[in-house]
Amino acid sequence: MLAAPMKQSRVHTLRRRRDLGGGSFAIEFDGSVPVTGPGQFFMVRTAERWPVQLPRPFSIYERAADGSWGSFLVKPVGPGSRALCDLEAGEGLVVNGPLGLPFPDDIEDPICVAGGVGLAPFLLLAQQAHAAGRPLRLLFGGRTREALSGIDDFASIARVFASTDDGSHGFHGLVTALLEDLLAKGEVEAGETVFCCGPDPMMHAVAALCERVGLRCFLSLETYMACGYGVCNGCTVEVQGERFGDWPYSRTCVEGPVYEACELRAMQRH
Ligand SMILES: Cc1cc2nc3c(=O)[nH]c(=O)nc-3n(C[C@H](O)[C@H](O)[C@H](O)COP(=O)(O)OP(=O)(O)OC[C@H]3O[C@@H](n4cnc5c(N)ncnc54)[C@H](O)[C@@H]3O)c2cc1C
Ligand code: FES
Repeated sequence: MLAAPMKQSRVHTLRRRRDLGGGSFAIEFDGSVPVTGPGQFFMVRTAERWPVQLPRPFSIYERAADGSWGSFLVKPVGPGSRALCDLEAGEGLVVNGPLGLPFPDDIEDPICVAGGVGLAPFLLLAQQAHAAGRPLRLLFGGRTREALSGIDDFASIARVFASTDDGSHGFHGLVTALLEDLLAKGEVEAGETVFCCGPDPMMHAVAALCERVGLRCFLSLETYMACGYGVCNGCTVEVQGERFGDWPYSRTCVEGPVYEACELRAMQRH
């Protein structure tokens, strides 16, 4: 079994922490960012005072056109993400990537469905689609308006359809109900392709709905990772399908984090 080539770690400098509302931040840093596909990620830690042993995976959120700066969308949920959000301007962060495989780049006009920090992989995609004159359809679901962290970054470049559980913004209900509503209205048609990233229960529900209504579906998993480049087997998921040969397991950090829903055995158990 091959490991992904280990990338060189780079030390970058925090330029600012941008508040996205709902307790999440864009952690913007100066330093060269290689070309990165939507869905690829970096292993990240602070240069000083990193509180845990291992770096943590984060999707790239923004990347300057000339690659001179970038950002991660971070919600502080534990020691690592809190340390990143506590960085002061000028302090260092160590990044290693891009890692993993991105969403397929040969799908025209995918419908992107996001929940929580699962919004992160879609800003690059929205910028690319906007530049090509084909605004991306983004469905973004949260409990409340406040929970839709980062939604304003998409307002002028994508067709944003929001849903909230409490009805405080956009469609009143789950993002899956919003997707069904858009199907009924002809905004989304059977045979199209969904790209989805968010909490596991949401991705299960989106995958099940896509199967039922005849949409193709790719999911970007937020599996817990240790090394990030294929050596620890800490991120395996059960899979099926041609690209894995007869082997029923896949390392999310190498062959993922993006999988077609039909490749994931967990998604077949609904
Ligand atoms: C490919 C990839 C991209 C990611 N992109 C982003 C991103 O853009 N923004 C972002 O904020 N986060 C992202 N994450 C998630 C982030 O890496 C984790 O939440 C990370 O564990 C946070 O580290 P921590 O030290 O703060 O918290 P930890 O101590 O690692 O975890 C804090 C709490 O969250 C739980 N937890 C953490 N990860 C998982 C998981 N995968 N499944 C279930 N429970 C979990 C832990 O059990 C614990 O209760 C991504 C993960 C992956 C794999
Ligand atoms: S995180 Fe170590 S093999 Fe994937």
